[in-house]
Amino acid sequence: MWWLKNIQVIDPSQKLSSPQDVLVQGGQVLEISTSMTEEEVLAEAQGEPVETINGTGKFLFPGLIDVHTHLREPGQEDKEDILSGSRAAVRGGFTAIMAMANTLPVIDNRALVEFVRRQGERAGYAQVYPIGTVTKGMQGLELVEMADMKEGGVAAFSDDGKNIQNAEMMRLALEYAKLTGLPIISHCEDKELAGEGLMRRGVASTRMGLRGIPAIAESVIVARDLLLAEETGGKLHLAHISTTESVELIRRAKAKGVDVTAEVNPHHLIFCDQDITITDTVLKVNPPLGSAADREALIEGLRDGTIDMIATDHAPHTQAEKARPFAEAPFGIASLETALSAVWQHLVLPGRLSFERVIEAWSYTPAKRFNLRGGSLKPGTSADMVLFDPDFAEMIEPATLVSKARNTPFLGKTLQGLPVMVWVEGRLVQRDRTVL
Ligand code: NCD
Ligand code: ZN
Repeated sequence: MWWLKNIQVIDPSQKLSSPQDVLVQGGQVLEISTSMTEEEVLAEAQGEPVETINGTGKFLFPGLIDVHTHLREPGQEDKEDILSGSRAAVRGGFTAIMAMANTLPVIDNRALVEFVRRQGERAGYAQVYPIGTVTKGMQGLELVEMADMKEGGVAAFSDDGKNIQNAEMMRLALEYAKLTGLPIISHCEDKELAGEGLMRRGVASTRMGLRGIPAIAESVIVARDLLLAEETGGKLHLAHISTTESVELIRRAKAKGVDVTAEVNPHHLIFCDQDITITDTVLKVNPPLGSAADREALIEGLRDGTIDMIATDHAPHTQAEKARPFAEAPFGIASLETALSAVWQHLVLPGRLSFERVIEAWSYTPAKRFNLRGGSLKPGTSADMVLFDPDFAEMIEPATLVSKARNTPFLGKTLQGLPVMVWVEGRLVQRDRTVL
């Protein structure tokens, strides 16, 4: 049994943000109250040993749930695999992750869905929820067997990494997915408008002489998909929103009652196109980092609820791939181990976002939207939780990262505010930054 004393509990599901004592037993949250005596705790324990944690100055919240994680297994295990990725997840404060389907082969049938799910269970760290593709082979031509894949355990459908260019295919996907009750996750990027671009089109791309991707390449598909969701009544989730226009379009669609949720990635909230240098590919990501004004619109959208969730879009790549010239390196940033701390340091500490909103957007809302375990510390729920120390600082170094990937912009930098204990179903899986 665990007794966490006088710890700042943030739990949006119970509207809690105050110092509490928390008891955990048998994999579940047993009790949360403002004061507990030793006699009461020992009576509850009934002879079981009690491990007491002094939580003064620390936070406890439901484990983060990441709805956009690339784990690269099967097929690209040199970048990451399900074991290394789910270990990186718990090191970063995530107790559940949704695994994107753009692997080799892509996850477009039930057997592969079950493979990913079983690998996640075998690893035994963060819960791994497979995402299935929308179309066979991610070719955009023929829908997958959605009902069968739901039986196999998919949490959503997505051709992420690629846009579904054909509007009729997207319409059908939204229509058919209704039968499963699962959302379609859309990677909004018009192929022709994006062209062979390498970063967001603007002053910075012009100055560096790098081919630009216009903002409208995203927003035009956001507009299309919102209209299709309205028309079909299907469930739509928009991945990695990055432009001001997209935020405005989502705000208007929500006002009309369209069944849409949207996510934003930490790197789009922290960096902008001006931070990119041609000699460093680490910030080469899709969608590309926008302008400083876009970053402001995204923060405002997250604050007012237009954007529902934060998601990492953890996109691990090898050092050799990222060492290529800017035009040839792959898009993507690895972020599971640094994302929460980066958001704490760059957005919560400066007062741009409340920590309560961060936990709501990264745990409670993902659990609700994708119907997953977690997102709450209500007594009787599974003890998937994080103890966060705002004073703990760590230099981000290759030797301590448990992900196989090193493509993080925080390498060599110190981050402060980190998860120091993580439990999955009441089982301690990370302590003092070491994955157990
Ligand atoms: C992702 C990847 O590497 O799979 N890359 C990226 O830059 N975000 C694909 C994606 O999420 O679109
Ligand atoms: Zn994507």
